[in-house]
Amino acid sequence: MWVDVVAEVDFPLGAKKLYATDFEDILILHLETGFYAIENRCSHDHIQMDEGCVEDGAWVCPFHGAHFCLRSGKALTPPAYEDIEVYAVRTASGMVQIDVDA
Ligand code: FES
Repeated sequence: MWVDVVAEVDFPLGAKKLYATDFEDILILHLETGFYAIENRCSHDHIQMDEGCVEDGAWVCPFHGAHFCLRSGKALTPPAYEDIEVYAVRTASGMVQIDVDA
């Protein structure tokens, strides 16, 4: 199910946004290579990791430095060994949308 997150004009390059579902928070990023949406909970200590940063196409958890692939959610470096969820993102009718059923 596609849901609106934010108007495209209000989500400039470099911005990030949190979207809360009944089950978890989703972190949406607008990067030069496109939009990405990942689970906002590190699989290491299960902490919200939206204060992290992007490095070489990966999201870096701010707590212990685990890297997660932004495209697949794969845990790339210790201390995280379990992957995180990723969500499809699209723009439609001027809105950035994510597929929360992915
Ligand atoms: S909580 Fe993310 S690497 Fe430890």
